[in-house]
Amino acid sequence: EFDVTIASTGRTIRVPADKSVLAALADHGVHIATSCEQGVCGTCVTRVLEGEPQHRDLFLSDDERRRNDRFTPCCSRANSRTLVLDL
Ligand code: FES
Repeated sequence: EFDVTIASTGRTIRVPADKSVLAALADHGVHIATSCEQGVCGTCVTRVLEGEPQHRDLFLSDDERRRNDRFTPCCSRANSRTLVLDL
């Protein structure tokens, strides 16, 4: 598990091992537009301000992955303890 922090409100939400970032955010009333929910379409791509995502999508290019400034909350997770999201 890890935490995501919503930059605009400073609120931190725990993401349990059995839940996607998307689902954990939705449980707390934070809704992100999605389509495929499988890491393919890129609809959910969200800016990451701090922390290191663990990319599990098929959408971002290798270059984009290495920059670690965006990730797909429908399927990707975190290598760091916390991700600060530009939401
Ligand atoms: Fe399609 Fe996340 S909803 S990549």
